[in-house]
Amino acid sequence: MPTITFTNEKKEIQVPAGANLRKEAIRAGVQLYPGVHQVVNCHGFGQCGSCRVLVTKGMENCSKRGLMESARMAVSLAYIGNESQMRLACQTKVNGDITVTTKPPLNLFGENFFS
Ligand code: FES
Repeated sequence: MPTITFTNEKKEIQVPAGANLRKEAIRAGVQLYPGVHQVVNCHGFGQCGSCRVLVTKGMENCSKRGLMESARMAVSLAYIGNESQMRLACQTKVNGDITVTTKPPLNLFGENFFS
């Protein structure tokens, strides 16, 4: 069974292979949504972008980005500079061990943002 490690929450959970990251996080009591998005979000349809996380280890163990996720990320400022790590939890299936950082901050002054 794959293990998901949530670094901010210091929590590890085991999930069945192919499990949806958003659903497993919610089941484990991990808050994915920042601020008002705890109430106002698309409930897993890949439209709001508020469930974004950074997969800091094990990206190869996640499902590939689909069309919906790629389209949503293409219009997200938070995606800039985080292309290799950022995923929408609701669109990600977990097939092996991963490490996840929830609620990544928007890095307006990072080296990649204005370059
Ligand atoms: S819950 Fe809205 S994009 Fe994932």
